[in-house]
Formats: sequence, C-alpha cells, structure tokens
Amino acid sequence: MTTTEITDTARANAFTGKVLTDTAAAAAVVLAALGDRLGLFADLAQHGPATSAELAARTGTDERYVREWAAGLVAAGYLEHDTPANRYLLPAEHVPTLATESGPAFFGGVHQELVGALQGYHHIAESFRRGGGLAPENLHADVWTGTERFTAGWHEHLLVQQWLPLMPDVQRRLRADARVADVGCGAGHGPIRIAQEFPDCTVVGIDTHAPTIARARRAAAEAGVADRVEFLVADAAVGLPGRFDVVTTFDVVHDAVDPQGLLAAIHDALVPGGVHVCLDINCSDRAEDNIGPIATLLYGFSLLYCMTTSLAHGGAGLGTLGLTPSVLRDLAGRAGFAEVRQVPMDNPFNNLYELRRPS
Ligand SMILES: C[S@@+](CC[C@H](N)C(=O)[O-])C[C@H]1O[C@@H](n2cnc3c(N)ncnc32)[C@H](O)[C@@H]1O
Repeated sequence: MTTTEITDTARANAFTGKVLTDTAAAAAVVLAALGDRLGLFADLAQHGPATSAELAARTGTDERYVREWAAGLVAAGYLEHDTPANRYLLPAEHVPTLATESGPAFFGGVHQELVGALQGYHHIAESFRRGGGLAPENLHADVWTGTERFTAGWHEHLLVQQWLPLMPDVQRRLRADARVADVGCGAGHGPIRIAQEFPDCTVVGIDTHAPTIARARRAAAEAGVADRVEFLVADAAVGLPGRFDVVTTFDVVHDAVDPQGLLAAIHDALVPGGVHVCLDINCSDRAEDNIGPIATLLYGFSLLYCMTTSLAHGGAGLGTLGLTPSVLRDLAGRAGFAEVRQVPMDNPFNNLYELRRPS
C-alpha cells in the first residue's frame, strides 16, 4: 500500500482540520506579537475596553490597522467585542498571558522571540541545502530581547522561590560568601536575582553576546547590585575567569557550539566539591516522548535559533531538545564531574541538574 491511498477519510478530514487550526494559530501569534510590541494589550489591560478609534488614539496608532487587528483577535478568541458599544476588551483572565510583563504566564517574550527568529527563515532554508547555519550575531534583535523577557519570569518567580530550595547544599553555599559564575547570562536576570537574594555572594555573568551584556550591566546598576555583580563578554568554553563555588547555566548548554568544552571549562573553574547548577530543556531520551505543543514549539526554536546558531560556527548543534538526561550525563562524565543529580521538579519547559566536581 502506498501512502497516497486514503483508507480512513475521517482521519484525513480531521488532520486537515488540525492543520487549519495550527495555521490559524500562527496568524494569531503574529497578531499577538503586534499587540505586545505596540502596547495594545497593555493599554487594554490598564485602561479598559475601547473602540478601535479610542485604542488607536490612546496608543498613537492608526485606527484602520487597530480595527483589523482587534477583529482578528476577536476571531482568535484573545479579545472580546462588546457589540452594542462597539468596544474591544481584554478579559481579565487573558491579562496574565498577554499583558503582565515577567509574570509566570506571560507569553509576550515568546511571541517576540518567535517572530524575531522567523526573520532568519530564508537563510535557514538555504542551510538545509548548504549546511552551516545562522550565526547568533545575525539573529534579529527581537530574538535576544524576546528571550530576555521570556526568561525574566523564571528568574523572578522560580529561581529563589522554587529551584534553589530543591538544592539545599547550593543554597547553603550561596548563604555563605560564595563566588558564583552564571555562564550564558544573557541580560543578567539570574546574576542580579542571586545577588539580591544572597548579599554575601559575588557573581560574574559571562556571555558571548556583547549587546545583552551591555543591557545586563545597566540592569545591575538599576538594581543596586553593580558592586557585587560583574559582567564579561567572553566565550566560557575557552575558560572561566577564576575559581567558583557555584556555576549556573540557565538554558545555555544545549545552545553551545562546544557543549563538551563548555562543561569541561565549568568543571575546571569549580573549587573541589563545587556545584554546577544546570537548568536545561525538559526533554526525553526517547524521541517518541518529545511530542505535543511544547515540543513542537521547541523544535521550531531549535531550527530557527538553538541548533542553527551552533551549526553556524561548526558546532555540535545539539538542538533545543538535544541535551537529554543521558546526553548530559555522558558529557558531564567526560568533563570530569563526579556526580549528576537530576533534581525532581514539575516543570514542563525545564529540567534541573546538580553536577558536582569531585572533592
Ligand atoms: C537561551 S539564552 C539564555 C540566557 C540566560 N541564561 C537567561 O536565562 O535568560 C543562551 C545564552 O547563552 C549564551 N552562550 C551560549 N554559548 C556560550 C558560551 N560558550 N559562552 C558564553 N555564553 C554563551 C548565548 O549568547 C545566550 O545569551
């Protein structure tokens, strides 16, 4: 039997319906990204329902565009339309997802990152034929800003409240005067949060991307922790600047050009018995388990960002779902770590690991 023979028409029709839903969802994401970028959701959340003319006036936008946008998002179920008053409203239940910056349910950063990453679509299509990839420095700026806004919620709501209490030894070290490095620190949310919570710690944030490090330095100054948080533009895979009690990576290792070299450099920079706290993607060693909406989204990000940026520099290209628990154990063992503990936690996006250097 060839795959072109349809034996189950209902299944074929159901699949067409699914693809329609997915295609419409892609359009909804574009509309949502515009609502985020132009402050339309934030305005509706703050000032309440508006006609398209009122919303346009309040946000300095063009009424005709706003009307089309709002109608589209009513169709998608993101906004509601009060027909007698001809006003558009953002239901209170939708505010956390669309308009609460850094909140635990906020998707604005994800939408910004995804639409930004799509700017590399043609280049990446070419990479399918030629190999290589899209270098990080050629990603659209929205990829960096969107990522920062996406992960800000983790650092604000989960790092201190949920993740560190699951690692009492790390917490104890941080409460003492630990020297901490955050590798791949991006805009510095992790180092700043650690410095705020643990006043005796000093933290070094390291990232290869200079513009995000500039933002991290400004954020540390604004947070009043610049005296204890230093930021460096550097490739941590070639070595860390000093010795550390704790090294953290928040969704970095799977992106690395040289994940093996990166783990070895982290290992070598730890004091004996020191700990690498590795947050990385929640994915399974069994490919058949990596299915569903989150995996679909992550495979998309892999092609558009994580895998392609590593391959662009001739790297391992693990991919967003490539640092599975067994891959990490293998790489960590070769890097010299004595122990890898997967910290039990319930998080659909991330796994948490403690990697310990032998004493
Ligand atoms: C997905 S982002 C995560 C950023 C940050 N940890 C956060 O939680 O927002 C991955 C970051 O790792 C950085 N990175 C990847 N490989 C690196 C390396 N070898 N040395 C330093 N930074 C690296 C990238 O530039 C990027 O900023």
